[in-house]
Amino acid sequence: MKIVRDPAELEFPVRPVGFVPTMGAFHEGHLELMRTSARENDCTVVSLFVNPTQFAPHEDLSKYPRNESRDAEMAEAAGVDVLFAPTVDTIYPRRTTEVRVSGVSERFEGEVRPTHFAGVATVVLKLFNMVRPDRAYFGLKDLQQCAVVRRMVEDLNVPVELRFLETVRESDGLAMSSRNVYLSSEDRAIAPRLYQVLARLASTLRADPQVSVQSLVEDASAQLGREGFEVQYLALVDPQNMEPVAIFHPGCRWIIAAKLGNIRLIDNVPV
Ligand code: PAF
Repeated sequence: MKIVRDPAELEFPVRPVGFVPTMGAFHEGHLELMRTSARENDCTVVSLFVNPTQFAPHEDLSKYPRNESRDAEMAEAAGVDVLFAPTVDTIYPRRTTEVRVSGVSERFEGEVRPTHFAGVATVVLKLFNMVRPDRAYFGLKDLQQCAVVRRMVEDLNVPVELRFLETVRESDGLAMSSRNVYLSSEDRAIAPRLYQVLARLASTLRADPQVSVQSLVEDASAQLGREGFEVQYLALVDPQNMEPVAIFHPGCRWIIAAKLGNIRLIDNVPV
């Protein structure tokens, strides 16, 4: 596996090229994206770049877990051909242009983190332009990010095929995330409740599609509140446009964001 820092070196003798954009701190969720890309393409490129523009000033940019040599070993074992690990100055020689995807960026994560998706959309477009992949792979754990990237690609005619893969979970159901390492042992023990509650909401809705979504949301939020979570949002949404839906329709998903201590967890499940 080659480690590249300069975008001018991103030349690939074979195609198709699959691309997995990441911020490092790899876990099984990242590795699954890399292995899928390695199976489906002749060359797999992974970017490792902790993107400062998607963190608000009070967020955890300086504390974000970083270990390039461990990540490089894991990527190589997953079949990655090129690890693109640029510096901040390489990606942002200046910050005069920004990509904003309106509508789909605005609710849920966009309300809690108002500058986040402009940072994500801008860096993803820049990385697409540097790597010029045939296919790009994203995890559905960040459901709204997938919707934002899909809309940006459609709106700006970016020539890339997007592939979205289901969330990889720990054996107790907790969605894998680079931030799980920050959970205290007590909070780590309760964290899987988030998934268990979402899974129960999905099966309740499947069993009775006419049930009131509003009352399901109220009951589940109150229950999670009693168990120590601070629920920021819990909703049934159409994942294409991230609009809330009042009754079940095919493809809709339950989404949640909740704080446990100082740690914010997000998750979602299909109905
Ligand atoms: O999902 C992530 O790790 C990041 O948001 C991404 C897509 C790599 C952009 O920085």
